[in-house]
Amino acid sequence: MDMSSQPIGFFDSGIGGTSIWREVNALLPHENTIYLADSKNAPYGLKSKEEIIALSIKNTEFLLEQNCKLIVVACNTATTNAINELRAKFPVPFIGIEPAIKPAAIQSKTHKIGILATKGTLNSQLFHEKAKTHTDVDIIEQIGHGLVQLIENGDMDSPEMAELLENYLQPMIAQNIDYLVLGCSHYPYLIPQIKKIIPPTIKIIDSGEAVAKQTKNILDQKKILNPSLALGNKVFYSNSDITVLQNILNQKEKVFFLDF
Ligand code: DGL
Repeated sequence: MDMSSQPIGFFDSGIGGTSIWREVNALLPHENTIYLADSKNAPYGLKSKEEIIALSIKNTEFLLEQNCKLIVVACNTATTNAINELRAKFPVPFIGIEPAIKPAAIQSKTHKIGILATKGTLNSQLFHEKAKTHTDVDIIEQIGHGLVQLIENGDMDSPEMAELLENYLQPMIAQNIDYLVLGCSHYPYLIPQIKKIIPPTIKIIDSGEAVAKQTKNILDQKKILNPSLALGNKVFYSNSDITVLQNILNQKEKVFFLDF
């Protein structure tokens, strides 16, 4: 059966994974895509591993019912806690996202890098195993308490956001980091606010571009890239207030409420 015109599925605990969807869509505009924002259950970062696995399975089942040919787990917290279970349970290929520590560690001149991520990601075994392999750099970890909730409420430009970011970033600046890794798919939306706080010598790295390249490679290897020359059909679902998802996207994107 030719699967190439089947959609790519994306899920995240909310609207943040659209930062990953954007990169994939920029590289693969002819692909049909379905994005699921499980905003009702955000944040995942404060949930137990078991809860994150159960929600990730539920999201995947929904996307497979929509006939997706590949799933992008557009959430660091779900990837670091549940990707092994998803791969063991379902036959489709999964692309996960993990904090981009490696490129930051390789390029750092001060040998100090900062990572901002959720509690669920920073406490995961997968993150610890990866972090341990970079013995040549100090990794300064910071949990982004409260950031996802503010983004999910559409409060990106609020004074509370500015204050939280100031509190999380100043200690890293004081410790002389030269790379800041954004280890949560919601955080690329905070880059303008982050740039108001950090000096221009600190570079920001996120995982979106690498995920897009990996998605293309896997589709290519499996011979399921969509050969169509037309722009793909893009559909977005949220099980919470759809205006927040609509506002973060181009207004023309099709966003639907899902009772899920
Ligand atoms: N966007 C998510 C991530 O990349 C999850 C944030 C959360 O729900 O806590 O980690």
